[in-house]
Amino acid sequence: MITPDVPLAEPERPHSLAGIGAAIEACRRCPIGFNGTHAVMGEGPRDATLVIVGEQPGDVEEREGHPFVGPAGRLLNSHLEDAGIDRARTYVTNAVKHFKFVQRGKRRLHQSPTAKEIDICRWWIEGELELIQPQLVLALGGSAARGMLGKTVTIQKERGRPHPLAGGPEVWVTAHPSYLLRLKDEGRRTEEQRFAADLRKLAARMAELAP
Ligand code: URA
Repeated sequence: MITPDVPLAEPERPHSLAGIGAAIEACRRCPIGFNGTHAVMGEGPRDATLVIVGEQPGDVEEREGHPFVGPAGRLLNSHLEDAGIDRARTYVTNAVKHFKFVQRGKRRLHQSPTAKEIDICRWWIEGELELIQPQLVLALGGSAARGMLGKTVTIQKERGRPHPLAGGPEVWVTAHPSYLLRLKDEGRRTEEQRFAADLRKLAARMAELAP
């Protein structure tokens, strides 16, 4: 039996989004791939100019098989709409393709991926970006930022401005909507305002880059 400790031969990455979707389901490159969940592939138009990257599918996303369709997705949708960004014209994906969780009774509680797991999964998002060739990437939260920038960054320091990737898209980072959902009262209002401001700046950049 293959275990996560046995290095796998580097296979060639599929050259289509459908091929990557099939391959991630079978991916056993890190321990999360062994937890019996279904992988969740990115979704959206192949010619999207903006790719939105989350951390990993949540409980709802894993069950339904689509990214950002649970509570965090609903908050994201409403902020995108307010900023004038049409989600249907963006490609939405995650830094890690399987749901990492710990079972507590009937509930599956989210667990953050390790830096190593994010780094291993970068192989797949690189494949998606190679095919889509977006001008812009929005990384939601620390895991997505690590997946895109290849290093751990402080969101509060790096948010709301472009981080150009050599020969690739401009990466913008902001908070993760699940983080906003965990806050209450004034803290929540303040962070939602910051999130909204980041999305407005990104929308302005999209307009600047539009032909
Ligand atoms: N959180 C994420 O980071 N991604 C999803 O797809 C859903 C929730």
